[in-house]
Amino acid sequence: MEIVICKTKEEASKLAAAVITAQVKKNPKTVLGLATGSTPVLMYTEMAKAVKAKKVSYKQVKSWNLDEYYGLPGTHDQSYRYFMNENLFKKIDIKLANTHVLNGLAKDPEKECKAYEAQIKKAGGIDIQVLGIGSDGHIAFNEPGTSLSSRTSVVYLTPSTIKDNARLFFKGKEKEVPTRALSMGVGTICEAKKIILLAFGKGKADAIKGCVEGGISQFCTASALQLHNDAWIFCDEEAASKLTLKKYYAWRSATKLGL
Ligand code: PGA
Repeated sequence: MEIVICKTKEEASKLAAAVITAQVKKNPKTVLGLATGSTPVLMYTEMAKAVKAKKVSYKQVKSWNLDEYYGLPGTHDQSYRYFMNENLFKKIDIKLANTHVLNGLAKDPEKECKAYEAQIKKAGGIDIQVLGIGSDGHIAFNEPGTSLSSRTSVVYLTPSTIKDNARLFFKGKEKEVPTRALSMGVGTICEAKKIILLAFGKGKADAIKGCVEGGISQFCTASALQLHNDAWIFCDEEAASKLTLKKYYAWRSATKLGL
């Protein structure tokens, strides 16, 4: 696991976007795994800038998103399909038909999840998976207590995640937040060839400590990334503030990136 520590989230987002741009330039048929939440927004803005500057094209790229709220249509302004359309897909030249988000209204959600996994497999697997991290250490909606080999399925949100996400819902009300979601599993995520996790702010410091320096545990599902051979954590100084070896990690990753 490499931990890239930047002074600001702007700097970290630019570096992470550069990794994705380079990958898409190298392989225009790249398969991306994408994430929602406030964290990747700046990185998506940087990716869009590169498209506008004609440095890269997403015309042949395919994407699969991590998760979707159960019960929300893709037209709902808090659905993750809506988020992706607004924050990335409309701003780059990707074909909407090549973008995939789990259907929160699926009549048989478990069947939807199985079909989603089959689609990813058929596409050759995910080349780069983007992740955020919850303050409880979750990746996608894999909450504490989720098996580290879990597959895409219907999952149940913890009260802490519902509280964290309520700020984005109608009048910030927790009862507006769905209690279930369809989510890629930890095992599914770890099959991606490369993983980029972004984390900003002091609210993520405990989660990053658990992910990087804690034991591998289903209590912090991000800790499963310790078993991945090409996982990169891009964080700002606040999110890295509780890491014991932060200076060492920063030096090592900066050297590897040629910074
Ligand atoms: P955030 O969410 O980017 O809005 O902090 C991250 C997550 O819950 O995975």
